[in-house]
Amino acid sequence: MIARELIPGVSAVGAIDWDRRYFDELVPLPHGTTYNSYLVQGSEKTALIDTMYPARTAEYIANLKRLNIPHIDYIIANHGEQDHSGSIPAVLELYPNARVVTNKFCRKLITDAIDVAADRFLIIENEDIISLGDRTLRFLITPWVHWPDTMLTHLVEDNILFTCDLFGAHNATSDLYATEVGRTLESARRYYAEIMMPFRRHIQKYLPMVEKIAPRMIAASHGPVYNRPALILDAYRLWISDEPLREVVIPHVSMYSNTSNMVLYLVDRLIERGLKVTPFNVVDGDLGDLASSLVTASTLVVAASTVLGGPHPSCVGALNLANILKPKTRFLTTIGSYGWGSDIAKKIQALMPNLEARVLPPVLVKGRAIEEDLKELDRLANEIYECNEELTAQSVAAV
Ligand code: FEO
Repeated sequence: MIARELIPGVSAVGAIDWDRRYFDELVPLPHGTTYNSYLVQGSEKTALIDTMYPARTAEYIANLKRLNIPHIDYIIANHGEQDHSGSIPAVLELYPNARVVTNKFCRKLITDAIDVAADRFLIIENEDIISLGDRTLRFLITPWVHWPDTMLTHLVEDNILFTCDLFGAHNATSDLYATEVGRTLESARRYYAEIMMPFRRHIQKYLPMVEKIAPRMIAASHGPVYNRPALILDAYRLWISDEPLREVVIPHVSMYSNTSNMVLYLVDRLIERGLKVTPFNVVDGDLGDLASSLVTASTLVVAASTVLGGPHPSCVGALNLANILKPKTRFLTTIGSYGWGSDIAKKIQALMPNLEARVLPPVLVKGRAIEEDLKELDRLANEIYECNEELTAQSVAAV
């Protein structure tokens, strides 16, 4: 663990977790993650913004000791989840006079999970400030940019915005700043899909506030610091927008190639019509890739074999994930092969009640797809194309 200076008196003192492969035992982390903690030193007081994942506490405390910080007066808890709050007791032990600065909701979530005495907290309201002498911290309470307790901290004079989970990325890198654009956006988009997408409506309210602040840097608590905030703000504008893109995602599972052959045929017909298509094999695919593809997609085509009267069980978990992530999908349909009967289209629809999508007629085929079934897939490709044309026309009309 190291300390890296953003500007004089403001340093990143968190940890890089190169090897972590799952978050919350749910979210795959192909690039590991970081738990960022920031030290802000004013002329009179010193603050630590967010702390550390419990498993890295010993390393974190050793780092703080090595830095020989004479006093830490405030521990700012932007969020109660333990990857940011888990080391608060150890920091309080090291700096017995420090107060934990946060909102009421966050205090409750922290004390529900961690043993921190109530009198160690300094509770703030939205827009409250605390002075560090020549530096000021301003708190912006922004519920639901992950949990209901979340808030942002603005370092006013230096115009740095500490956003905790918001704008984060599970991206273990030695780069302090988000200079590697491709990797940064890939990991930030995946993170948005898995963590933030269900809270898209809330972010729509907060983004104009962040734009008004026009921070010089955005320092989240996962991933590199944005020293050019436009990179992530532009991406978020697209991701949270109500307008999806002309993109079709096809999660699929097939037992004897009958369904997968239908997928291959439909993929080609959609490409011919100028649509972006992302097929996703639910049996061995990384669910993070599926989530990421749903961020901007207009259309979801579920392709599944029928098994014992229902959709193949391997697609059920993936569809449950799609449901809880609440993507902005506008059109939903089903294709697949069955043996002697199927009503999987209705069952698949019932698995995703959160989707506000228009349901298009399915193409379900007994056994292998023959010529008339392929004509049905042509019909579906046309309908998906027409629906997406309609979307484009609406977007143009709205501009
Ligand atoms: Fe990075 Fe919601 O915790």
